[in-house]
Amino acid sequence: MDISQLNNEIRKSKLLGKKLFSVVATFGTTIRGSIDPIYEIGNICKDNNIWLHIDGSIGGIFAISNYKFHNIKEIDNLNIANSITINPQKILGITKTSSLLLVDDMNKLKKAFYTGLPYIDSSDDVLNRGELGVQGSRPAEIIKLWLGLKFLGKDGIDNILSSSIRKKFLFENILDKNKFYVYSGSLHIISFEPKNMNTNQINTWSLKLKKILLENKFMISRPLHKNRYILRVVFGNFNTKESHIIELANFLNNNINE
Ligand SMILES: Cc1ncc(COP(=O)(O)O)c(C=O)c1O
Repeated sequence: MDISQLNNEIRKSKLLGKKLFSVVATFGTTIRGSIDPIYEIGNICKDNNIWLHIDGSIGGIFAISNYKFHNIKEIDNLNIANSITINPQKILGITKTSSLLLVDDMNKLKKAFYTGLPYIDSSDDVLNRGELGVQGSRPAEIIKLWLGLKFLGKDGIDNILSSSIRKKFLFENILDKNKFYVYSGSLHIISFEPKNMNTNQINTWSLKLKKILLENKFMISRPLHKNRYILRVVFGNFNTKESHIIELANFLNNNINE
């Protein structure tokens, strides 16, 4: 997110008499796993009394680890958010759905959803959790997440998260920067496209390469980025070995003209 543009938009909206209720910052973008300047955005939101939501679908899970991810920017600033979404299934292999919406103050949920339940005596000051969301009685979705985290344990989670980052950097180091433009932040996602090709050529190249790689058991994705389909690798599978990464990067380096 461009901070000066954010400031401009806030100024413009105020001039037009519009009420801004939320800014959404991203902690781990879909294409390159990059991170917005959360701290700066948080302070702007505080100054202007705007709710800050952080989309941590991809990166938020890294904050539960005790492992010190020194290279991941802003990881200690996530608590500046009023709300954050986290998708543990994206990297920990926990069954969907297990996405979380966390808020900084549970009373905000009560304020938003409370209707009063005439069939329940809520006179005690015990908070009725059925009043904290749209649904009253809810399926026990959380058991999947709890079991998954319990099964992996702290060390298991640290291992998965730290190895995903190591794998990304290994791949990035081998990929030939003379041949590819590489897009990546500090997380476990990387996208790339060949240099010296026009949009049509890149679209054809990525389609063909993706098919060839799939036949060779490499499942990589082909996201739309700035009007063209490029290639993306997400190091989200714990079973991916270093040898696979070296094989994939070398294959790409050597078959760019496929
Ligand atoms: C940055 C980001 N936000 C949100 C989502 C969507 O999450 P969900 O599948 O929980 O709707 C994705 C999915 O890949 C994502 O990459």
